[in-house]
Amino acid sequence: MTTPEPADRVLARASLAEGDPTAWFDRLYTAAARGEAEVPWTRGKPNPDLAAWVRPGDGRRALVVGSALGDDAELLAAHGWAVTAFDVAPTAVEAARARFPESAVDYVVADLLHPPADWARAFDLVVEIINIQAMPREFRPAAVASLASFLAPGGTALVSEVAEENQDMANWQGPPWPFSRAEVESVAQDGVRLVSLETIHDGARYWATFTR
Ligand SMILES: C[S@@+](CC[C@H](N)C(=O)[O-])C[C@H]1O[C@@H](n2cnc3c(N)ncnc32)[C@H](O)[C@@H]1O
Repeated sequence: MTTPEPADRVLARASLAEGDPTAWFDRLYTAAARGEAEVPWTRGKPNPDLAAWVRPGDGRRALVVGSALGDDAELLAAHGWAVTAFDVAPTAVEAARARFPESAVDYVVADLLHPPADWARAFDLVVEIINIQAMPREFRPAAVASLASFLAPGGTALVSEVAEENQDMANWQGPPWPFSRAEVESVAQDGVRLVSLETIHDGARYWATFTR
């Protein structure tokens, strides 16, 4: 007997065949809310690399990209950041609000590929952890440009994605679609500069910081 394919892969394939890079996320969160699927990236706690990095926000503005169920956004809010957190999946945004009813985080439904104009250069901290890699490569330049646009002068952008250099790319089937080092470095555009770029988790992921 063969093992059934996980729901996220089945839903992703259907969504991509429709030419829609992101519709499957809401379908997956909806199926998970009904107990019919698992969302593979949910941990019920903040990303440990972000938890290791986090520093006091002192009321400065942070933007969490692809905020899922809200754990990373809540971590930053607990450290004094004024957090906006967005996800393309309305069901994820509703779930985050429901999980943290007293939250100070502004949870928003928005698409990284079509962000609100007033987010340009508006955030002192921008956190992008394994979201852009979840869209097919053809959307990457637009997503990276959008990400770079959010960063305010003097701010920090944190970017973490699966590192292509240590994967067997010949046999790889996305999602996700790992990043090359050059693709991570491409966040440095339009006045944004690379500060550091390292591999973490035995080379499995990149962890990069940028400023403007
Ligand atoms: C692989 S999950 C990662 C979630 C979270 N960042 C983490 O580290 O666990 C990707 C998330 O990004 C969201 N997402 C995907 N494409 C997006 C887009 N274009 N705009 C906003 N959110 C997006 C998905 O709905 C999903 O919640």
